[in-house]
Amino acid sequence: MPRLRALLGVGVLSGAVYACPLAAESTHDAWLRYAPIERTAREKYASFPAAVVVLGDSPTLGTAQRELIRGARGMLEKTLRAKKELPREKAIVLGTIVSIQALVPGFSARSSLGEEGFWLTTENLRGFQCLIVTATTDRGVLYGVFALLSKIAQIADLSDLNEVQQPYAPLRWVDQWDNLDGGIERGYGGRSIFFEDGKVLTDLTPVREYARLLASIGINGCAINNVNADPRLLEEDFLPQLARVADAFREWGIRIAVSIDLSSPKVIGRLDTFDPLDPRLTQWWRKKVDSIYRRIPDFGGFVVKADSEGRPGPSTYGRTPADAANVIARALKPHGGVVFYRAFVYDHHLNWQDPKSDRARAAYDIFHPLDGKFDDNVIIQIKHGPIDFQVREPVSPLFGGLQHTNVAMELQITQEYTGQQRHLCSLPSMWREVLDFNFQLDRDGASVKDIVSGKTFHRPMGGFVGVANVGMDESWLGHPLAMANLYGFGRLAWNPDLSPRAIADEWTRLTFGNDPAVVSTLSEMQVDSWTVYESYTGPLGLQTLTDILGSHYGPGVESSERNGWGQWHHADHDGVGMDRTVATGTGYVGQYPPPIAKLYESLQCTPDELLLFFHHAPYTHVLKSGTTVIQHIYDSHYEGAERAADNVHHWKLLRGRIDEQRYSDILARLQYQAGHAIVWRDAVCNWFFRASGIPDAHHRVGNYPDRLEAEAMQLQGYSIVNVVPWENASGGKAIECVQPRRCTASFRFARNAGWYDIDVVYFDQNNGVSSFQVFVGDQVVDEWMANDTLPATKIGGDSSTRRRIRGLALRPGDDIRIAGIPDREEHAPLDYVEIHAPLE
Ligand code: GCU
Repeated sequence: MPRLRALLGVGVLSGAVYACPLAAESTHDAWLRYAPIERTAREKYASFPAAVVVLGDSPTLGTAQRELIRGARGMLEKTLRAKKELPREKAIVLGTIVSIQALVPGFSARSSLGEEGFWLTTENLRGFQCLIVTATTDRGVLYGVFALLSKIAQIADLSDLNEVQQPYAPLRWVDQWDNLDGGIERGYGGRSIFFEDGKVLTDLTPVREYARLLASIGINGCAINNVNADPRLLEEDFLPQLARVADAFREWGIRIAVSIDLSSPKVIGRLDTFDPLDPRLTQWWRKKVDSIYRRIPDFGGFVVKADSEGRPGPSTYGRTPADAANVIARALKPHGGVVFYRAFVYDHHLNWQDPKSDRARAAYDIFHPLDGKFDDNVIIQIKHGPIDFQVREPVSPLFGGLQHTNVAMELQITQEYTGQQRHLCSLPSMWREVLDFNFQLDRDGASVKDIVSGKTFHRPMGGFVGVANVGMDESWLGHPLAMANLYGFGRLAWNPDLSPRAIADEWTRLTFGNDPAVVSTLSEMQVDSWTVYESYTGPLGLQTLTDILGSHYGPGVESSERNGWGQWHHADHDGVGMDRTVATGTGYVGQYPPPIAKLYESLQCTPDELLLFFHHAPYTHVLKSGTTVIQHIYDSHYEGAERAADNVHHWKLLRGRIDEQRYSDILARLQYQAGHAIVWRDAVCNWFFRASGIPDAHHRVGNYPDRLEAEAMQLQGYSIVNVVPWENASGGKAIECVQPRRCTASFRFARNAGWYDIDVVYFDQNNGVSSFQVFVGDQVVDEWMANDTLPATKIGGDSSTRRRIRGLALRPGDDIRIAGIPDREEHAPLDYVEIHAPLE
């Protein structure tokens, strides 16, 4: 969708008459849209001051003042008077504690605010009751302004305001995986906002807008390029371009950082080595870092991915990650920069035939022995689980294994393995579980949130890194609802004690307004959506059963097996799951502290939702829930698909309460998801049915009474093809129109006369735009183009898509015909149709 800055015009609502259609809204301002608050609520702010005073002239304070004026103008429809000195009337005062004390001696905060905390209060200043936003630093004031605006958007009472907030952890960064050519690794929201054609973009407006969103949730750093880094970024002639990006972020209090390739000294630096212990390396990095800081004095530092997935690293020279990290850290130290060294280091050529091989072990095996060997400005950036952002993983044991080293938790906002922003999957629910996980060490406060914020082991630094990957798309992440994940990341990094429900409520109010029906429906949909997604893609700790060798999107149950990537689930005829116990498995369980290891070591004690991550269990093993493993796999997939369909229904109840543009965009996504959940359900269930030979107790798997396979229809021009892997098409087959003209598939309706919906399941590849027409007799009842941009160039689980044709009056003997017109590589492929009583 092209970037669209202006608000769209008021649309005419089709299908229903509304007294007052809501103006279509841009999704670009996300939660900072500052829409006028409801007239009835306006009363609350009748005595809102008319002036805003800023005490100081730093760019950040200027930004804070402008933002407050912008917000008040939008929400209250009042333009505040911008002042530099206290006026002779009540005012909103923005400034540091020190600057307020200079005016009003004796003014002081009731508790320490730290470097980035803020205090919102009301106080009499020189005879006038003022609303004060203060902090130790200008950045704190900016955060306070955003908090105040958020309160107004949620119609909070400001009369007795007295609130101190402090961020939980010092480092709250996002990483962008943008490439210099403008593509984004695992990005699902369009092209890069930073780069194109090997250069930084000329117009950095989107970067400023992004920085504003980030600052509003307290993010204070952004690494702007792919962790699979391009060394060209460090070339001397590239640095001025980086400086332009840093300028765009600076007024919002955000420092930039870059991901680096450790072989840079050799690739771009004309050295014949990148051995971290070679003294020439120390020199090279020092010079390079000094040069960066000359242009970007507040540069944040470097992110390092090394010895991982083919990236060069210290192992080339028999050196350790500590050797590599420290040499760079020492160059950054005098400037206040940091190194985020990623613990995502593993061998992707593992021997899959060795029952002791285990990718999950890698991070702990490599980094735990180095605990205490990293300099104080190095932070080990650890993915929350031991594998790779799967729909569910246990918490990485490395958080408990680095007690003398700074750590940060890496979370993935971009939904690589969780539906790629096409499926609603709200991640704060998952993250909150991870953050609350307690390592049960023999000390207080050993929860993950305390460890990563540096509290548990009294580390000077620590924090949260979210892989965001926003792009040029109007709604930044490609799905308006996906922005709740970016918002939720920032809010949890600021305050990990916020509940997923509270975050969802907040985000919904800010994004869609305060209508209670919208808030409760949408919040509930969000909070549940992670477990819904999990239930049809990878329950019981199986990880996302997706095509791990390709898109990471649709089903691909076997793709993770018999290869070196180590994302195995070891499903065979008798059972499924990976034995990671100490007694009989890979020993991974032994990386946890004893009380946790004891829990996971036992098949009986391991929680159901992680069972198959830790144990290879027979399909007939009875879970705590009372069902067998195999029946749970079936039930979970059916239930998940039903819950995805329910979301369509819930959303439809909101029609007229949300502007039609956003309403229908989101509806289309939810309908697509409901269809794709069925694709997932059938693929996984059929695969396990074939593997286990155990039928579904409820006779659903393999039985589709309403379904007619395309290959069983009367075909003209269409030919039948086998689909690989077989489970990704119903019956393992599909039909394709490999001739340049239209093809048809038809059948005779043989059921009772009545109203029906017809679902047509077809494949929508991204290398062609086929068109389809559906006829009942001679009448065209529907037609469409297969023009979605799914991550698929062939027939399969990634491209499988459902079109629902509603409310058809069918009579026995009706001739139903689907005509497909192919385009380029996409041959109007069809899987099946399903005819059923109207559902929604
Ligand atoms: C995943 C992802 C890669 C990414 C890697 C990383 O494996 O698929 O694209 O490079 O994580 O985090 O480094």
